[in-house]
Amino acid sequence: MAVLEIKKYPEKVLKEKTAPVSDIDRSIHRLIDDMIETMYAAKGVGLAANQVGVSKRLCVIDVSTADESIPLIVLINPKIIEKKGSLDEEEGCLSIPDYRTKVKRAEEVVVRALDRKGNMIEIQGRDLLARALQHEIDHLDGLLFIDRISPIKREFFKKRYKKAMAGDR
Ligand code: NI
Repeated sequence: MAVLEIKKYPEKVLKEKTAPVSDIDRSIHRLIDDMIETMYAAKGVGLAANQVGVSKRLCVIDVSTADESIPLIVLINPKIIEKKGSLDEEEGCLSIPDYRTKVKRAEEVVVRALDRKGNMIEIQGRDLLARALQHEIDHLDGLLFIDRISPIKREFFKKRYKKAMAGDR
């Protein structure tokens, strides 16, 4: 297993819709293992394949730091099939370091996907898991959480972020 480089905003691969996985072969298994390793190394609760530069529809999620009864989840070709309620809570992203803001999301979701063995699964999520599922599936559709905030907040973010990036150099 290897820790991969996490792509950062505004890299193009993060803005592109990913392609469905048609064959869960050895290279996909390896990618999944590397993504899990990368997520843990970065102390994230989720990671989408395009965040490591691979434009494929799969993601990994682990919210056990908030709820230890929830195991590591691997989702291949995930799709949200039910949404309920609404919650406005703070969110961050490994691809947008040092920026957190409130994002409105459904309070509960049901997601249908394949697991790493190719079995069809349905995951019901509330609280942090619901938020993580929506955040990661957004990634797979080429959306970042800053695409879900008001245009005014987004402009403010972009200005601040550019300045911070310039300051790094
Ligand atoms: Ni993210």
